[in-house]
Amino acid sequence: MNASKFLAPLMLAAASVNAFSQSPVTLTVETHQNVAQINPGMYGLMTEEINHSYDGGLYAEMVRNRTLDKSWAGFEYWNLVELGTGRAEMDGSDDGPSKALPKSMKVVITSASAKNEAGIANGGWWGMDVRPSTTYTGSFYAKPEGITEAHVSLISDDTGATLAEAKVPLDGAAWKQYTYSLKTDAKVKAGKANHLIITFAQPGSIQLQLISLFPPTYRNRANGNREDLMKLMAAMSPHFLRLPGGNYLEGDTIKERFNWRETVGPLVDRPTHRSPWNYQSSDGMGLLEMLEWCEDLKIEPLLAVYGGYSLKGELVVGDDLKPFIQEDLDEIEYATGATSTKYGAMRARDGHPAPFHIQYIEIGNEDFFDKKPTYDERFSQIAAAIREKYPNQFKLIATTPVKKGDPDFVDDHFYKTPEEFFAMVHHYDNADRKGPKIFVGEWATRIGDTTPNFAGALGDAAWMTGMERNADLVQLASYAPLLTNVNPDGMQWSPNLIGYDASRSYGSPSYWVQVLFDSHLGDHVVKSAADHEEGLFFWSTTISTAEKTLHVKLVNASDRPQPVSLKIDGVRPGKAKVETLHAASRWATNTIDTPNAIVPTESTLAVSGDSLKLTLPGNTVQVIDVPVQ
Ligand code: AHR
Repeated sequence: MNASKFLAPLMLAAASVNAFSQSPVTLTVETHQNVAQINPGMYGLMTEEINHSYDGGLYAEMVRNRTLDKSWAGFEYWNLVELGTGRAEMDGSDDGPSKALPKSMKVVITSASAKNEAGIANGGWWGMDVRPSTTYTGSFYAKPEGITEAHVSLISDDTGATLAEAKVPLDGAAWKQYTYSLKTDAKVKAGKANHLIITFAQPGSIQLQLISLFPPTYRNRANGNREDLMKLMAAMSPHFLRLPGGNYLEGDTIKERFNWRETVGPLVDRPTHRSPWNYQSSDGMGLLEMLEWCEDLKIEPLLAVYGGYSLKGELVVGDDLKPFIQEDLDEIEYATGATSTKYGAMRARDGHPAPFHIQYIEIGNEDFFDKKPTYDERFSQIAAAIREKYPNQFKLIATTPVKKGDPDFVDDHFYKTPEEFFAMVHHYDNADRKGPKIFVGEWATRIGDTTPNFAGALGDAAWMTGMERNADLVQLASYAPLLTNVNPDGMQWSPNLIGYDASRSYGSPSYWVQVLFDSHLGDHVVKSAADHEEGLFFWSTTISTAEKTLHVKLVNASDRPQPVSLKIDGVRPGKAKVETLHAASRWATNTIDTPNAIVPTESTLAVSGDSLKLTLPGNTVQVIDVPVQ
């Protein structure tokens, strides 16, 4: 987290109690009364291809429609470039570089010379982020006829200036991959109003496929991720990534499910697929890239495998499920198997010999939508196969309560208004402790446009206090959706935790709630009680034993100040660190243009005796780290 964001003064004790305050609450904390152990890996991330999370998002590819899919609208996102007297035409071709990509674009250069080039252009994902002194690496597959050189350039939309260029010699008339790099100089102005052109100075024709361009990526991974978005996620201190969905796992139909085999290996062997969020997925962010995303954040994959149900109601049951069970087992082997296994060896061939450590496997997604219902049977069949091949290796997660198959966890999903979440903070207090543990695998306060406003942050924080107080039962939780491209056509679901365009990104107020809660989790919950319920005041109290620190999380979702008396046994005299997230109103928010309007501020508070008095301003989430014995 950026320390410079923590410079604002202390916001807590200043506001005085007045006629407009909430009535004072006394909160008693018994630091030696351990009421629940906390799973250290409780908080994580949930991902899927939605809102251009990958293509046009985290996956750093700058070229849009790189596989040159042709629809009734032609080659979307591609245009002709005709400089001076240069002339070109583009058409589809039923000839491609691989079985997975059997088609291509044929560019016919009818007239061209060194000063009058012609070719094609791509505007990227609502722009292309170009920065000074930066090297971009690209590639394309080509089959030329009469053309011996391609000229690749990054061009400013505003000035038409060439920002970087490369000449790529073309040899032979067979399909071949060509690589190039584009280096900008120090004078280039950073921004996203740029496009890529590939032009030719000779008449002839050329078939093209898989045209790609990457900026530097997080940890310099080839085919990797955007640095800014990875850093935002890292700052949340997550512990797992639920992948690959969500609806994206199921697909609208069985054919459109996340078929992991078609997302691994060389990009040219990935056929791409239609996602349930209504756009084509390049599958550049395939299974291995998702696992490597976990590796780069030093978190664990929580792998969801296909459960035999797709969104539009297609089902596979009984013996028909067997090939899909095999697909799941092979996927688990690909992710976790030694290189001596068939799919572990495949992973090694794909560049990652080391197996990934996985504890949790989820079977399906939201199978309560299966009205037949067949999930009990499907879950127990798939669970039995996984347990037979991997005895005691994984904890298995069902997506809805089942009577068969003995899941270790059930995945509960909640998309609620702030008021609903305020009313639900005791949801798990009296829940059955004898059955499976709970994974709240998707949840969010649904308010705000694109990303949540402060009302969302308050709903989230209130809900998280309830999950934390019940940490013996709720052992895993992940907010959803995680990512959105903020361009109006880029989003299918609102709100989302993190927003971005081609060159900028920001965390919503809800994102900062995640940062605060995740980084002050503690290892056990201690007993606490308020002298009375006060409408919109919520809290949780946890301890980090090794650090001898009590984390007091307070939420005032009222717009009035909340006087609080904290009575804490075993305080160690010293300084408490206070982190405060506050907004003037519930409507206040962060946007792509005002990314830091609401960020946590840091201050300290002297603590000595067992009593601490403070007034929490309205619309505030606060974490106080109190030194304890
Ligand atoms: O998070 C958006 C969608 O909500 C998920 O894909 C699905 O699991 C849920 O219905």
